[in-house]
Amino acid sequence: MKISVSTKDPAAYTGDMIILFVRQPAKGQPVCPVPGLAKAMAQACLSGDFQGREGQTLLFYPIGGKGRPLGTRRALVIGLGKDEVKRETLRQAGGSACCATMKTKATKLLAVLPEDVGLAVLVVAESLAEGLILGAYQFHKYQKFTDPDETPGAISEITLFSSRATEARRGLARGRVAAEAAWVARDMANEPANYWTPAHFARFGRDLAKSDGLKCTVLGKPEMIKLGLNGLLAINQGSSVPPTMTVLEYRCGTKKAPTLLLVGKGLTFDSGGISLKPGVGMEEMKYDMCGGAAVMAVMQALGRERPRGVNVVGIVPSTENLPGPAALKPGDVVTLYNGKTVEVVNTDAEGRMILADALAYGVATFKPDAVVDIATLTGAVIVALGHHRTGLLANDDALAARVLTAADEAGEPAWRLPLGPEYRKQLKSQVADLKNVDKRDAGTILGAVFLQEFVAETPWVHLDIAGTAWNYTEKSYIPKGPSAVGVRTLLALVRSY
Ligand code: BES
Ligand code: ZN
Ligand code: ZN
Repeated sequence: MKISVSTKDPAAYTGDMIILFVRQPAKGQPVCPVPGLAKAMAQACLSGDFQGREGQTLLFYPIGGKGRPLGTRRALVIGLGKDEVKRETLRQAGGSACCATMKTKATKLLAVLPEDVGLAVLVVAESLAEGLILGAYQFHKYQKFTDPDETPGAISEITLFSSRATEARRGLARGRVAAEAAWVARDMANEPANYWTPAHFARFGRDLAKSDGLKCTVLGKPEMIKLGLNGLLAINQGSSVPPTMTVLEYRCGTKKAPTLLLVGKGLTFDSGGISLKPGVGMEEMKYDMCGGAAVMAVMQALGRERPRGVNVVGIVPSTENLPGPAALKPGDVVTLYNGKTVEVVNTDAEGRMILADALAYGVATFKPDAVVDIATLTGAVIVALGHHRTGLLANDDALAARVLTAADEAGEPAWRLPLGPEYRKQLKSQVADLKNVDKRDAGTILGAVFLQEFVAETPWVHLDIAGTAWNYTEKSYIPKGPSAVGVRTLLALVRSY
């Protein structure tokens, strides 16, 4: 998709559709920001169908005045409401613009930035670009015989009109990096598990290293055996494809800069293993790699944006979790990377096994100043928070606060749940240092309590995205399917570091 900034008179635009964003006035009709379109818009508003309420849309087909026809056939007005306009208001407005556009045949759009809403033009351009690009996402790779009448339109070109081109261009660049990273994460997650295997994370990492100047190291099975990454190896036992652990390093060039470690669960399919999941809905477990996809996508964004003042290491441990003749069995004991032994009571609690190894390896190898892991870890987080908030657990209040702020700013809200020694008792095993599950109680907390054993004293935040990685809160800029949650939160965190 092409996207750029223009300062040319919007009334002269000759693409398929012009999009305007308007506040809802206390009285009367919303004000049209493009004088050349004011008459036509006022005429359309006379229908009484549009007040400018948040999320409201009005599509009309303007007819130009005598001798001065308008350049475009369609105009779309999006309401911003009467409350304070925030980043999220604009993202949602961008998403609404896409939803309405994709019902038409329009592919080339001009969006007129609302520059008088009390936010810096940079922020307006950034948020609107995010909403527009995120909302334009579609995945039809495997639909080859669909009825042309049923296929939604696709957006090929977006121009942002601004009177302040420099600021708008800077905002667009930021919004674009973030939204395109989310596209990448959604693409990975949409791929079926028979295509997107652990080897694909490795290949993506290697390609990224070449194209965006990162360092990539891929640990394969022989390296894992040598290093003792036995949690990842144990979960992989039932699968016929080998595991991978992809390590990407972004270096900002400043020696003394702090290092942030990001670890994402890259389970390309979770059947539960010998502790097999029920069949209904099991196909959704191809999404069990959304944490890994988020980390990879953030690394791509960092490679493109090259922020200063922080080094970032991204690690994605990846395998399938399947039953098979060699599969891990309930009751088996495994020695993880940091030497701790685990009794595997339930092979479906596999995410914590592979993350434990990746966290312990990452902490020992890179000595990071802070660690954030992101994983579709527990069904219990859906019971606790539904699909509207990501579960956040942390051993450090300051880091937790930073991640919560980043999540709010990104429009991906999180909610902190507690940790504590009282919960650790629930993971006591008769035969090993700890077991991987207990009874159902406090399932999300127990997942985090387990992981905490593998980060030593490093400040650490765990994001449980099982409820938000797909089937997320319905939002105009988040189509059905994987949401790419976490990509923009982690990017906001790095940018503010
Ligand atoms: N990948 C699942 C968690 C999950 C469930 C993600 C539903 C998204 C939607 C994870 O590996 C898992 O199976 N967790 C178990 C843990 C239990 C055995 C302690 C669960 O949540 O049931
Ligand atoms: Zn599982
Ligand atoms: Zn899982």
